[in-house]
Amino acid sequence: MIIVLLGPPGAGKGAQAEMLETRYRLMSLSTGDLLRDVVAAGGPQAETVKAIMDSGEPVPDDVVLGLLKDAMKAQEGEAGTILDGFPRTVPQAEALDALLTRDGLRVDAVIAIQVPDDVVVKRITGRFACAGCGATYHDVFKPTLTPGICDDCGYTGFTRRSDDNEETVRNRLAAYRAKTEPIIPYYRERGLLHTIDGTPPPDDVFEAITAVLDPLVCR
Ligand code: AP5
Repeated sequence: MIIVLLGPPGAGKGAQAEMLETRYRLMSLSTGDLLRDVVAAGGPQAETVKAIMDSGEPVPDDVVLGLLKDAMKAQEGEAGTILDGFPRTVPQAEALDALLTRDGLRVDAVIAIQVPDDVVVKRITGRFACAGCGATYHDVFKPTLTPGICDDCGYTGFTRRSDDNEETVRNRLAAYRAKTEPIIPYYRERGLLHTIDGTPPPDDVFEAITAVLDPLVCR
């Protein structure tokens, strides 16, 4: 089972991927996380990748595809994968189809989460994460229960992504419109696209997504 989560920055792809993993016992794969691992590891590509991510532009397809192939290989034998933030260009969508076909697989459903730009900016500029366990929070929408202490692990250090400032978010939105939105007709033509309103609270968005996926995953 291969599920693609599509949507602008801050649409809630990561938040929904986490909940879907639990419900369907699938693994999720975020190319954003894979790229942040490359930056954190500090190898030869780290500086270039960081500069591109900080600009809000997509990282070149060949770099992302290499990381994705390795990550999917490592998940072989699992019940399926939720792809968060991949594909992001039509060539990536085509490459994914070729990769899956080779293994007798296919994309089963594409969930396009739609959120207006002003909501995206508010969500992204308020996002922070626990430096201990990675749990994500938001200054307004999801603060920690006790200020300065992670609800999940009790750690007191927090981080903010270097691309989560308003200028970069606007560039990420522009890149989404120019390079990622053309994937929508690609999947619509294949009968795989399901559009979901991402503006209600996370549990309501989750309910709308599972209404689409339950019949596919649980059949
Ligand atoms: P990536 O890490 O994928 O970032 P993104 O797509 O911009 O998405 P985000 O992770 O920012 O948002 P999200 O939709 O996951 O929202 P979240 O659930 O966190 O990519 C970063 C960069 O890496 C790219 O710019 C690019 O350079 C590069 N890259 C990655 N993949 C690539 C690829 N395939 N090809 C080329 N380059 C690639 O939610 C956001 C906030 O809102 C959170 O605080 C959350 O708590 C809150 N929230 C979520 N849902 C709701 C809700 N329903 N109501 C209220 N608040 C909510």
